[in-house]
Amino acid sequence: MQSNRTRLDRFMSRQLGIKRQAIRPILAQGRIRVDGCIATDVQQAIDQFSHVSFDQKILQNKQPNYVMVHKPRGVVCATKDPRHTTLIDILGVDLLGAPETYQLHIAGRLDFNSTGLVLLTNDGRWSRRLCSPTNKIEKCYRVDLEKPINENYINAFSKGMYFKYEDIFTAPVKLKIIGSHSAEVRLIEGRYHQIKRMFGRFQNKVLQLHRLSIGNLALEHTLLPSQSRKLNCKEVTDIF
Ligand code: URA
Repeated sequence: MQSNRTRLDRFMSRQLGIKRQAIRPILAQGRIRVDGCIATDVQQAIDQFSHVSFDQKILQNKQPNYVMVHKPRGVVCATKDPRHTTLIDILGVDLLGAPETYQLHIAGRLDFNSTGLVLLTNDGRWSRRLCSPTNKIEKCYRVDLEKPINENYINAFSKGMYFKYEDIFTAPVKLKIIGSHSAEVRLIEGRYHQIKRMFGRFQNKVLQLHRLSIGNLALEHTLLPSQSRKLNCKEVTDIF
């Protein structure tokens, strides 16, 4: 997703269909307001959530939205799909209203049969920050396996694994054994089918994969499969 930041003169020139040079005199007349204040600088940064008005006319007034969903099995992490139920389908339009719902994108997908916490937003900067491995935001999964696991897995996961197709080494992955056939896995990146491929090195099939948390945001037990709710301001900022 591209950055939505631009300069005030570029934004206004696009909105009013006039040359950028024509914006400076309009600005000097105090006719443009950004987030409630009279704008004075043509270089002022405008992002997708800046409130911008010209005289009495509102040019932009978009609210950021952040939602958590408990993804059930058999739902595709996409906004549109011709064959399968999507996360947007199960979210419905009651939570945010139709236009806002269709502007959401998914911040970190889960596979078709994986379950658990998925976040959606219309804020591209927030989702990029969340998904970038450089920010080291841990995602925690409970994994149920076909065969028993042992201490060798812990070592192999913590060293990282080479993925030939992408020609990369995975970042270290924390694995905690929580049962003979189950583990808690903590990742800071999200390579394609990463967890399944890592257990695949041991010819051990993942039977169930459930995302419990992203950063310090956990899926609460009261949010049942297919249910969703908005995040509050504290959750949105504290996740980093
Ligand atoms: N790793 C996987 O293999 N699948 C997921 O859904 C998430 C992480």
